[in-house]
This record gives sequence, structure tokens and C-alpha cells, in this order.
Amino acid sequence: MSYQHWANYFEGHQDHFDHIVYNADDQLTIDELRLIKTSVRQFQRGEHSEGKHLMNYAKEQTAFSGDDSYERAIYWFIKEEQHHAMALGKFMGVHGIRKLTSDPVDNVFRWMRRYLGFEQSITTLLTAEIISLVFYRALHRATNSPLLQAICSQILLDEELHINFQCETLKEISTGRWPIVNFMARQWQRIMLLGVVLVVFAQHRQVLKAGGYGFGRFALACFKTLERSIDMIHFNALIQRRQEQWVV
Ligand SMILES: [Fe+2]
Ligand SMILES: [Fe+2]
Repeated sequence: MSYQHWANYFEGHQDHFDHIVYNADDQLTIDELRLIKTSVRQFQRGEHSEGKHLMNYAKEQTAFSGDDSYERAIYWFIKEEQHHAMALGKFMGVHGIRKLTSDPVDNVFRWMRRYLGFEQSITTLLTAEIISLVFYRALHRATNSPLLQAICSQILLDEELHINFQCETLKEISTGRWPIVNFMARQWQRIMLLGVVLVVFAQHRQVLKAGGYGFGRFALACFKTLERSIDMIHFNALIQRRQEQWVV
């Protein structure tokens, strides 16, 4: 998909939570509330970002290429992530869970997205999307709350496409580069994911275990998604480069 398509997709998808009814009668037992409360607060905080620095990177791309489709795609993508935060926030409101204003892990992610440059910003985002894909599966299974399950189902559909979107950007960045640079980028993606898997499991093991993810299964699920992403980014990039060489 071109960035024009991504921009149109995200813009046309802004009603993705309209089918959800934030029912005040939603069922959540005290044990379930205790189990998920801390994790939901942290993930709700993580989903909420104004995306200022990402928008600045996207504007630089527009200035460089003269094509604003990536900037538009990022604008609507940020809105979509904000809807995740909004939906979780409304669920928290229904069950009297207070929002977090700051979280140390989230702060590290934000710092990396802000100061490590465009490629690392997208790599960090991809890592967060991969973790989300597994975490929300676990959260979906961890309670019998119809509202939380409906929210998780929608987030999971969205995150699958977010992974493809970030991969397409990383593919564009890596295409035509020295193979050794792409090799190093792949190793860094694996190292970053390993670090995040360890931290996230330590913090959210209760929800993950309740959703059927012991450490081994959680790590395996995350790394399988990363390897699938790496195939999309680097393998396709390599094929494209070879084709260009053949054409030449
Ligand atoms: Fe999200
Ligand atoms: Fe996402």
C-alpha cells in the first residue's frame, strides 16, 4: 500500500470505535478489577500521545519529497492511537479506575521516539505495536467484561495494520542501504524487543498469565511477530534491491 492509501485508510477509519457502547452496567468482578487495573492504567497512558515529534519527522519527509501523503497518514494514525487511549479511558471511567499521568516505561519509549531519530522512532513504535498485539490478546481473555473484550478486539484489529504500516516505512528506509547496515538494524530490533519483553513481562505478568501467556509463550509470540515484520521490511527490501540491480 502506498502512503496515499494509508492516509485514506486511517482517515476513513476514524469511526472504528463507534459500534462500542460504554455501558455503565458492564460486568467486572472485584478480582478481575484487581487483576487488570495497573496494566490497563499503564497501557492507556502508553496509547495516549500527541505525536508531536512524529509529526515533525513526517513534515520533514514532506519537505524532502514534496509529497505530503506520509504526513497525512501519520496525522490520522496518531488520531487512531488516541482513540485507543480514549476507549480504554472510558472503560476505566465506567469502573472507577483513575488515569495515570506518567509512567516510567512509557517515558523511556517517549524519550526514544523523541531523541533517537526517525528510523529509531519507527522501530520503537513497531516494538510497541508488537507488544500490544500480544498484551491485548491476553487482556481480552483475562476478564469476562463484554466492554473490555469489545475494546480489545477493535484494538487488536487496528494494531495488526499498524504493524504493516510501520514495516512499510522501515522497508522504505532500509531499501538500497548497505546489507551490513540492514543486518545491524535487524539485530537492534531483536535486542530492543528482548529488553521490552523482559520489562513488560515483569510488570504485566498477572494479566499475561491470566490470558494464557507464561514467559516462554509471551516471548515466542512477540518474536514470531517480529520475525514476520523483519521479513516484510528486510527480505522484501532485499528482493526489491536485487530487482533494481537486474533492471539496471
Ligand atoms: Fe494502540
Ligand atoms: Fe498501534
